[in-house]
Amino acid sequence: MQNIRKLSDDLYYVGCSDRRLALFESAYPVPDGMSYNSYLLNDEKTVLFDTVDKACALQFFENVDAALDGRNLDYLVVHHMEPDHAALISELVKKYPNVKIVCTAKAKDMIKQFFDFDADNFVQVVKEGDTLNTGKHELAFISAPMVHWPEVMVSYDKTDKTLYSADAFGSFGAINGNLYDDEVDFNDGYLSEARRYYTNIVGKYGTQVQMLLKKVSQFDVKVIYPLHGLIIRKNISEFIEKYNRWSLYMPEENGVLIAYSSVYGGTENVINILASKLADKGIKNIKVFDVSYSNHSDVLAQAFRYSHIVLATTTYNMGIFESMHSFLTSLVSHNLQNRKYVLVENGSWAPACGGQMKIEIEKLKGSEFLTDTLCIKSALKSDQLSDLENMADMIVNSIKGGN
Ligand code: FEO
Repeated sequence: MQNIRKLSDDLYYVGCSDRRLALFESAYPVPDGMSYNSYLLNDEKTVLFDTVDKACALQFFENVDAALDGRNLDYLVVHHMEPDHAALISELVKKYPNVKIVCTAKAKDMIKQFFDFDADNFVQVVKEGDTLNTGKHELAFISAPMVHWPEVMVSYDKTDKTLYSADAFGSFGAINGNLYDDEVDFNDGYLSEARRYYTNIVGKYGTQVQMLLKKVSQFDVKVIYPLHGLIIRKNISEFIEKYNRWSLYMPEENGVLIAYSSVYGGTENVINILASKLADKGIKNIKVFDVSYSNHSDVLAQAFRYSHIVLATTTYNMGIFESMHSFLTSLVSHNLQNRKYVLVENGSWAPACGGQMKIEIEKLKGSEFLTDTLCIKSALKSDQLSDLENMADMIVNSIKGGN
């Protein structure tokens, strides 16, 4: 049965959600499911904005049929060719053989890579600044390369002053009835998964996100229609400000992320004492993760959020303990910049991981080490408590001094 939602006089939500998916992109846990948004404009010409993941195919086609209400589909605007939005293009073409596919030249190439139908017969290539008049509405196309693939574009509806933003401004999580950001607790609940989505999916491409934000700032945007998550109409400026900070790799707030791994508890004991000292000295935002157990997508999101990062791990096979090495790889590959670091290394006979962690972090622009790496041999000794105290003071002074 169709499940469409009327968004305005002539616009419908025809997307759907998957709550059975364990890992989005086979990488990121989605305990609250995942939505794949698609929108149908019923103007003089009919326009579908993207398809959905194949997991939702049946529901999607029922929705599109219902929203078209017997009309033909004139246009499919493809903002992004990743299969969570583009999987059903070839099925759509079979069902609506007169449809014109509007997309960038790179997206056309990708259509040919993914599918066997004759794309040349269907595709109308558009570029930055091109427009499409559908009757009452005029759509302007804006290229958004690497947000999150190279072929991406977004569309601005000049009539309704709305932005179809592709992956930008999306979030993990299924749609739970409510479609709009002002129908949920945006700052306390929703933003956390939107942050995890941004940092893990698009976090590496800050420069390209900045370019898109600059372009979007030229438009008066009343509503944002992303391809995942809620439609944004109340928190537009707040969300854009978050995107600005994330893409500039500026921390959202002062606080300390402590990420550690510990084989027998010696390293864990050190970071627990450090966390207590920080709290005693008045630091409020402290998040501690064992990277051997916590999902790295959660830890990365907090690394983007906070100003200071403590990394503590064990030397293992003369290298960095595996789970910490994996987290560091994630940190470096997502290009996190401008953070202040403190390192703790452990090693019962030949501690070596501190220097190796430092080499990884030095790859990230704007990284600063507040003090020397604290070296533990098996367990913290009482004569090292002063070093830990000093480490806590360095962090506190840096935070309080805004440095
Ligand atoms: Fe939601 Fe990059 O696809």
